[in-house]
Amino acid sequence: MNTTFLQACKGETTSHVPVWFMRQAGRYLPDYQRVRSTLSFLELCKNPDLCVTVTLQPVDIFHFDAAILFSDILIPMEAMGLPLEFHDGRGPIFPEPVRDQKAAAALRVPEPEEDMPFVLETIRLLRRELKVPLIGFAGAPFTLATYVIEGGSSKNFLATKSMMFREPELYHAILDKITACTSSYLIAQAKAGAQALQLFDSWAGALAPCDYERFALPYVRTILADLRQHTDIPLIYFANNGATLLPYTATLDADVLGIDWRIPLADAIRQAGPHAVQGNLDPLALFLPKKDLEARIAAMLAAAAEAHGYIFNLGHGVIPETDPDQVKIAVDAVHRLSSQGN
Ligand code: CP3
Repeated sequence: MNTTFLQACKGETTSHVPVWFMRQAGRYLPDYQRVRSTLSFLELCKNPDLCVTVTLQPVDIFHFDAAILFSDILIPMEAMGLPLEFHDGRGPIFPEPVRDQKAAAALRVPEPEEDMPFVLETIRLLRRELKVPLIGFAGAPFTLATYVIEGGSSKNFLATKSMMFREPELYHAILDKITACTSSYLIAQAKAGAQALQLFDSWAGALAPCDYERFALPYVRTILADLRQHTDIPLIYFANNGATLLPYTATLDADVLGIDWRIPLADAIRQAGPHAVQGNLDPLALFLPKKDLEARIAAMLAAAAEAHGYIFNLGHGVIPETDPDQVKIAVDAVHRLSSQGN
């Protein structure tokens, strides 16, 4: 078992720097496309055998040091009673957005084993196959709320921010339910065998820091506290576009802070205090010529020498247009350059 990822999460020194990529399974991989051509994305998410297949693909091809469960952050929102659709090229859609007390009251807090058994079954199956640790995940409450309040993706988050500012009680009622759902969902993932858990706060950076502090951070804190009562596996919090939020996120009881590429890694490490750090190569840097990509990785590894635990990752997900050969170059470079001198 390769445990470098778990050791780095806990701030321990490792034989090489562990590396995995957000969205490492997905459309940039021909093997994923082949599976996906036979069924819809949601059907795939609900088929444990195929979820296992696509989770393993990037680990087998590129030798990542961790696997991430194949699923989607919006699966538990569907389990809360909200119809969910994915249309190719348009992203997720909730045709019945949550905009009033009646819709908020109708949200149910799911029982993970009853309502999302396919996710937990995928975890159990994966643990039999994997030789690297398995990361479970969920969306952070603010990010999930933007999808269910807007009815899908959004440019300026008009409906969400209007609700925050004009109907804060309604906003908090919705977020409280999403938070309860997320805690129990992640606890169930840990029980099923997930060896680390990551909270994705993809839209945190859309908030002014003062609003982040009031309308996003407290729910993350609650989930981390709930998780600490049930499990001692590493907890990772990733706030995308979150450089200006580090003074807040560094106060969280997460083992690892995920960092996007809009801040120099050395600055993020300084601000992260005792936390291990994960990141932060620009996903578009995978389009650099090989020599330049390797030089950039070498510079990041040099900066990371100061970290209290470092996991190499992108600053956000792999984009579908990425050349898999470039992913191979990056992963190999992290392994090769970080094991020199050991
Ligand atoms: O490899 C992995 O990282 C595990 C799988 C994973 C997916 N989604 C698969 C997926 C994970 C961890 C996610 C998280 C997720 N989903 C996030 C947080 C991370 C981030 O990217 O910020 C968000 C915001 C979502 C919501 C979501 N799911 C969107 C906006 C989309 C559409 C994106 C697009 O480009 O069309 C999805 C769909 C989705 N989730 C795909 C995959 C592989 C593509 C589906 C397909 O096959 O068509």
